[in-house]
Amino acid sequence: MCGIVGYAGARPALNIVLDGLRRLEYRGYDSAGVAIVNGELLTAKRAGKLANLEKAVTELLAEEAGHALGVGTTGIGHTRWATHGGPTDRNAHPHRSLDGRVAVIHNGIIENFAKLRAELESAGIEFASDTDTECAAHLLSIALHDAEGDTPGERLADAMRAVCRRLEGAFTLLAVDVQAPGVVVGARRNSPLVVGRGQGENYLASDVSAFIEHTREAVELGQDQVVLISGDAIVITDFLGNAAEGKTFHIDWDASAAEKGGYDYFMLKEIAEQPHAVAETLLGRLNEHGDLMLDEVRLTDQDLRDVDKVFIVACGTAYHAGMVAKYAIEHWTRIPCEVELASEFRYRDPVLDRSTLVVAISQSGETMDTLMALRHAKEQKARVLAVCNTNGSTIPRESDAVLYTHAGPEIAVASTKAFLTQLVACYLVGLHLAQVRGVKYADEVAAVVAQLQEMPAKVEQVLSMMAPIRELARELAEAKSVLFIGRHVSYPVALEGALKLKELAYMHAEGFAAGELKHGPIALIDHGTPVVCVVPSPRGRGVLHDKVVSNIQEVRARGARTIVIAEEGDEAVRPYADHLFRVPVTPTLLAPLVTTVPLQVLACEIAAARGHDVDQPRNLAKSVTVE
Ligand code: F6R
Repeated sequence: MCGIVGYAGARPALNIVLDGLRRLEYRGYDSAGVAIVNGELLTAKRAGKLANLEKAVTELLAEEAGHALGVGTTGIGHTRWATHGGPTDRNAHPHRSLDGRVAVIHNGIIENFAKLRAELESAGIEFASDTDTECAAHLLSIALHDAEGDTPGERLADAMRAVCRRLEGAFTLLAVDVQAPGVVVGARRNSPLVVGRGQGENYLASDVSAFIEHTREAVELGQDQVVLISGDAIVITDFLGNAAEGKTFHIDWDASAAEKGGYDYFMLKEIAEQPHAVAETLLGRLNEHGDLMLDEVRLTDQDLRDVDKVFIVACGTAYHAGMVAKYAIEHWTRIPCEVELASEFRYRDPVLDRSTLVVAISQSGETMDTLMALRHAKEQKARVLAVCNTNGSTIPRESDAVLYTHAGPEIAVASTKAFLTQLVACYLVGLHLAQVRGVKYADEVAAVVAQLQEMPAKVEQVLSMMAPIRELARELAEAKSVLFIGRHVSYPVALEGALKLKELAYMHAEGFAAGELKHGPIALIDHGTPVVCVVPSPRGRGVLHDKVVSNIQEVRARGARTIVIAEEGDEAVRPYADHLFRVPVTPTLLAPLVTTVPLQVLACEIAAARGHDVDQPRNLAKSVTVE
């Protein structure tokens, strides 16, 4: 969480940094701040959303034309998701050293900060905030006294390395020093940091969206590296000062992908982009022999043939994708597959060995819980395959194989298009495993891939029928609680529908396996309680369908207002549906690709009707880089 931006070049830094922060605000919006070097070190920061800081800065610049803040060509900026210290002005970043020489911004948690703070306080340093970050600012100014290097910039980098060697935990740090104009120094351990390589100017940021309008050439820093940028140089070392290299890559995102493009919210735009995202994720997956291909495979086919158990680890929405994947993977491969919340996985000592395949699903590729689960799996010699949306992020980098979802940047905090593409990627993983192990042959894989190829058009069809869902959303805006039920792959869809509603509308919502209702939750149903019922196809596993229809009758008999999502032509549900929404006929295992969409729209519209900030729900951040 937290978004960070740095700029060194010839143009005034302030607007470049503020524009970058605007694109990173999804990472946290508790406070925002900037530091600009222009002969002196100037900082401005405000609690609350970036708009508060922008207003304060605009007023300042209006009062004094040519104010140094608007002129300096070196700067850093931060948008915060609070961990240590409440979301106040004083805890907003940047934090300065006592001597006012350096300013530091930080993403992550410095775990030994209490010890460091006690040490600094006993040396007479008075803290101006409750944050862990402030320790780094004071340590940096102290380390600068003994720092080595021929230039002020090199000395700042040397001091940063000395500080990093003392820090424990996860951090990306950026610092500017009034005595090193034209230089920004960054450091990373377990939190993301990418460099944007421009012409006579360079950038640092938590992710490429912050500088994509200025350059498409990026360098991803490795673990435990320090980087110095100036207008014409990018110098990378490890924490000991040895020369190091980052991984260079070209960003092929369309810059407009990070804009709302006429939609009221990023979330609505991202929901609408789902057909394209699904199609992109499927693109070019079969070679000329009909064999499925993953993106980066550092595993042999024999490794995959040796797999005797699959574990899927993920959090939140990605976990729900994993739950759907379990049905497909077990069905297609006949290998036992478990799904586990990443935050629980490593603490219960799971049984893993080199014939276990762990699939880590993550949109951001930076989720700390998932990363820690992955590392635990690797320590136990398991093989790890990442399903990820963010090229070059930590989770794919540390995995043995990767399958990228091509959803494009997902800016709204609530995940939508990433979820659908995670489903597609998981289907492909299941098919790939089945093919390599000889359970499925090229023609069968090609047949499922052909069914998948039809999904973008089906998702599009669902999207074209959303007007009645919007109308219903307005009616449900005042509901106290909404329940969601489903069976088989519709069960995780029910959980996902409930999660979306909770996080966006701040409303009580719960998803249940429909068969579990009578074991307790049915007591929640009162007169008029809305119950969203996700009905499996009557074809194929007809018995499942009939069971859910019985469950709908059960809740209706107890007064529920039933909102039914069912396949076209399924007339059996009609008598029990207070509201009926259709999805196109789809093979059972692939159905979540269509049944999830109305639930996303429902949550988004209820939240909007309740007057909430759909893209930035309270208390949340897009990428959760703390455990
Ligand atoms: C919910 C949501 C979260 C994420 C979860 C994992 O809408 O977005 O539940 O799915 O935080 O994030 P990633 O996929 O980045 O690991």
